[in-house]
This record gives sequence, C-alpha cells and structure tokens, in this order.
Amino acid sequence: MQQITGSPDAGTLARMIDKKRLPVHIAIIMDGNGRWAKLRGLPREAGYEAGVETLHKIVESCVKFDIKILTVYAFSTENWNRPRDVVGFLLQLLEDTFSREVQQLHEAGVRVKILGRRAGLPASTREHIEKAEALTAENRRLLLNIGFNYGGRSEIVDACRELAGKCVRGELAPEDIDESLLAAHLTTGGCPDPDLLIRTGGDFRISNFLLWQIAYAELHITPTYWPDFSEEDLLRAIVDYQNRDRRFGKV
Ligand code: FPP
Repeated sequence: MQQITGSPDAGTLARMIDKKRLPVHIAIIMDGNGRWAKLRGLPREAGYEAGVETLHKIVESCVKFDIKILTVYAFSTENWNRPRDVVGFLLQLLEDTFSREVQQLHEAGVRVKILGRRAGLPASTREHIEKAEALTAENRRLLLNIGFNYGGRSEIVDACRELAGKCVRGELAPEDIDESLLAAHLTTGGCPDPDLLIRTGGDFRISNFLLWQIAYAELHITPTYWPDFSEEDLLRAIVDYQNRDRRFGKV
C-alpha cells in the first residue's frame, strides 16, 4: 500500500500506481463549474467552457495511463430545470465540442458513446451524437461514455419498460429476468461497472448518476472544482482507489 503524504507531483503519483491493478472503468461527476466561474467573477457559462477543456485533458490522461472506460456526467435529466439560457448553452456546447473535437478523439482511438434519453434532445444535438458515435464506433483505446439527458432512475425505468414489453410479446418469461439481463438493458449495455467514481466540487451525493452500475464502486470525493481538476488529481484518485480493500460483500 502506498500512502499519499504531502502534495506529490504527477510524476511521483504515476510511479506510485500499480499498473496491474488499474481501475478499468472510472466515472466522474464533473461538479463545481458554476462555483469556479463565480469565484472569478465570470458567467456560469465560462465555467462549462473551462470544464470542457478539463475533460479534454482528462481524456488524454486516461489514454496515457491505459484506463479503458471513462464515463462522465455532462447533462442530467434534472438539468432541464435550470434557466433556459443555461440549458441552451449546454446543448450548444455539446454540439460545438463534438464539431471541434471528434476527429481528434477518433485519431486518438477513443470511442464516444452517449448515455441517456435521446428522444428528449433537439434533432441537431441527436445528429451530432449519431455522427460522433458512428465515426468512432470501432475504436478500442478508450470508451468515453457521456451522460447527456441522463438519469439513473429513468435509465432503470426504460430498461424495465423494455423487459416488460418483451414479456408481453412472449419473447421473455418474467422468471428469466435477472441482474445481468437488467444490466444489459441499461444504456451502458455490456460495459463493465465503474470501479471508481470521482466527484469534484466537494458534495457527498450521487445525484442520480449510474445508480445501478455503482453498486460496488469506490467513491473519491474532492473539493477541487472540475475546471481545476488535473492529471495529478486523477492520479491521486487512482492511488486512493488502489489503497482501498474491495471486498464485494465478502470478508
Ligand atoms: C455541474 O456543474 C455540471 C454540469 C451541469 C455540466 C458539466 C458539463 C461540462 C463540464 C462540459 C460538458 C461536456 C461536453 C461533452 C459538452 P454545476 O453547474 O452544477 O456547478 P456548480 O455546482 O458549481 O454550480
């Protein structure tokens, strides 16, 4: 076990990591963008723009350190309740970011997948999503799942509806429904569950993110606001994860 003392730099943290016990799947609640902007006297939107830059850097770090799956929470089903201009800004930000960055992600071997209810999104946003997913579908270096119009509860409801429909049509018997079948009907599909869930911005809550999938995830909560989250912070979270005793209910 490698305890972190003081404030080691990225190089020191990288050496502390056991490459044989890396988390396969890291999930991140990218919180604190609004507070980051407010602290600097900037509009909230500047926080989201800075947040996209951080996401870009963290994707690069995940590729560099051989993390296989990164799932981030960009827009929740509850975010529709934010002021209209903020909602419009976040939708536009996804489209602009995809237009600008998808080719680079593709060249880096990143597969992009959107989790969430697509039907509720504007047609132009859906088009950007479908284009990015189609272009990157065969990439295997890193799977980048982006929760957009995503909610853990609505995802479970949608999976139940789909399973119920199959039962009604006689394609499935209720007693054949088990955990793996339900998991396969979630938008994460065949993706392994997150090993590590990071939340920036310091709040100790899950906010309806990956409710089913995080059953055994290790939680790492940092007060750092998302736009300030760095490779060092990511490595610190991985070292913290490797210091945990994962028992999965066993002794
Ligand atoms: C919560 O911060 C975060 C969000 C609502 C969205 C975060 C989105 C990004 C960082 C970029 C989107 C990514 C893509 C791919 C376009 P908050 O607004 O609740 O912050 P606060 O708690 O400080 O107010």
